[in-house]
Amino acid sequence: MKILFVTGEAGPFLRTGGLGDVSQALPLALNKEKQDVRVIMPLYSAIKDVYRQTMVFLGSKVVALGWRQQYAGVFTCEYEGVKYYFIDNEYYFKRFGVYGHYDDGERFAFFSKAVLEVLPLIDFFPDVIHCNDWQTGLLPVYLDAFFRADERLANVKTVMTIHNIEFQGAMDKSCISDVFGIPASHYSMVEYANNANMLKAGIEGANAVTTVSKTYAEEILNPYYAYGLEDILKKRSYKIRGIVNGIDVDLYNPQKDVGLFAKFSAKTVAKKAANKKGLQEMVNLPVADKPLIGMVTRLTNQKGLDLVMEVINDILNMDIQMVVLGTGDWKYETALTEVAKRYQSKLAVIINFSQDIASKIYGGSDMFLMPSKFEPCGLSQLIAMRYGSVPIVRETGGLKDTVPAFNPVEKTGRGFTFKTYNAYDMLDAIRRAVGTYYQKDEWSAVVNNAMSGDYSWKTSAKEYVELYKELLK
Ligand code: GLC
Repeated sequence: MKILFVTGEAGPFLRTGGLGDVSQALPLALNKEKQDVRVIMPLYSAIKDVYRQTMVFLGSKVVALGWRQQYAGVFTCEYEGVKYYFIDNEYYFKRFGVYGHYDDGERFAFFSKAVLEVLPLIDFFPDVIHCNDWQTGLLPVYLDAFFRADERLANVKTVMTIHNIEFQGAMDKSCISDVFGIPASHYSMVEYANNANMLKAGIEGANAVTTVSKTYAEEILNPYYAYGLEDILKKRSYKIRGIVNGIDVDLYNPQKDVGLFAKFSAKTVAKKAANKKGLQEMVNLPVADKPLIGMVTRLTNQKGLDLVMEVINDILNMDIQMVVLGTGDWKYETALTEVAKRYQSKLAVIINFSQDIASKIYGGSDMFLMPSKFEPCGLSQLIAMRYGSVPIVRETGGLKDTVPAFNPVEKTGRGFTFKTYNAYDMLDAIRRAVGTYYQKDEWSAVVNNAMSGDYSWKTSAKEYVELYKELLK
């Protein structure tokens, strides 16, 4: 099968979050399943020279967007056997930061249409176009409105994956015809709740909609999780399914990770002690055998930071240590930094986004706290488990699907969980984890269960292949 994977970001070229991880690892896994998958994304100025130097210019097209005529150059390169294409337009993509510009709607409308325009140039006519998040939501609509007459694109099927429904690309509805250039025949696909809504366009237009875990696929039919899209999702529920994310288990591998103080595996898990010591020294915490709780996270409400702050004194009054790495909302950055000053021997806070420090926390911590309010899939808990850091999570979305609760009698399960979004329920889960830490048999069972889980993309990549095949029947 020929699959075109369309995304706003993909590692290693550019990554701002989980979407960038998935857009790197899933195509690689599909490639291993012998599918001809290619990835296409914008050529941001933030992409580093080491990668730019490997790119070859293929040509350019003019893309009509409303009344505008815009240049779209195409570059290509290969990375780990996967072919990548990049849409070049300096007006749209030579910017500081990737998202968050006043004209994001126009930038990604341009990108989505340009992808379809340049297919003849790259001479690739896919069987399936796999879109991701709101940035690519208009693509299925453009396809139907402008490209079906080309017989090479007449039968192509589309998939829309929702990685996070909070971000929808919603803007003033005057954009629909003026900026996006959507014809009257397709106007209603893009309009929602008296706005333009790019994610909703993708949900309407795609042949199948997926979310990144099974539980999240159910949750988003509920107003608490749907950020206003529940009505359209309920109507389209027949074409929605959940396929859980994996991680690149070669990239996130404690046996190879050069960021660690000591490499280790499930068999040599005792070496985690060296990582813990290294981490404690690095962040100026006393070197001691106490439960060490790690967090590597965006400091936002989604990630449950409000719960953490509500009971931070109770947490730190336990005989534990805690290391937090992340950036995000100013109120959490400052509040955590303040608390760390009061609990210097217990809490270390690093306001940063660093792969290297992240590895040291995954490797050196005993527990990994992730009390998300909602979590479409979550990748950090998977990485944590692979590095023998036992997750403490709320039972939502992908956290629920990937972290079964530890049962001390049966010695099954991989983490400590709580259900209701409530700070004291979270505190209780932390207490259970800390209590178990001192039961050496139980603790080594839960660490071993966490480390021996299969978090690779293999099973899920096969599920995507099945889905593509169903669509092509
Ligand atoms: C988003 C979600 C996260 C998910 C990731 C990749 O970042 O918030 O839960 O793991 O996308 O799908």
